Amino acid sequence: MPFTMYEMARNPDLQRRFREEVREAFLSNDGKVTYEMIMGLKYMDNVVKEVLRHYPPLPFLDRVCTPKAGEEGYSLKAFNMNFNVPANMPIYIPQQAIQMDPQHFKDSETFNPDRFLPENKHENNMNAYMPFGIGPHNCIGERFAMLQTKLGLLYFYRNHYVTVCDKTAEKIQLDPRAIIIQPVGGIHLNVVRDPLF
Ligand code: HEM
Repeated sequence: MPFTMYEMARNPDLQRRFREEVREAFLSNDGKVTYEMIMGLKYMDNVVKEVLRHYPPLPFLDRVCTPKAGEEGYSLKAFNMNFNVPANMPIYIPQQAIQMDPQHFKDSETFNPDRFLPENKHENNMNAYMPFGIGPHNCIGERFAMLQTKLGLLYFYRNHYVTVCDKTAEKIQLDPRAIIIQPVGGIHLNVVRDPLF
């Protein structure tokens, strides 16, 4: 949520669009919050997805090489690499770096929720997008986490928005020693009270 608010403060046009969607959702649902109403917030979904591309809370994945019986390791020949991953070798996948790589995401440094629109997806390599991990051990809490985050944002944005202040960083520096990502110096924003209806 704070990373979302940081990007919304930095991109006021996107924040206006974000709030407009929240306003319309409340008005067309008699001011009530329901599961279906949250699922209908398509722009919010893309904003949170883009936040998780820039700032995946867990910035790396880890695996251990468990070769098939009779094999000594896992050969990377099929991927044009002359390397045999030895049995039991721990592997760390720098998922945050992969998600910010311009090889995989067009204008990767730009905060652009619209990259997740169906018509734009082909410009990005969505196989490289893995904030909740990948494969049989991916995050079991993905849907709950998305719902909870959207719910918090919905209630906050119903009555408030954010702007940058003197202490807001130009660009967030991630603490290189943090296992769950942390912005160096925290996130500082102005909160403005402004009920939507
Ligand atoms: C935005 C919030 C969250 C993010 C970004 C996140 C991300 C991740 C990631 C990257 C993994 C490792 C997946 C892999 O190695 O392929 C993971 C695993 C896991 N997560 Fe989450 N998670 C979040 C919230 C939650 C919540 C709310 C729960 C529980 C209610 C949860 C439960 C788990 C569990 C149990 C695993 C281990 C799954 C396994 O090893 O089979 N996570 N999560």
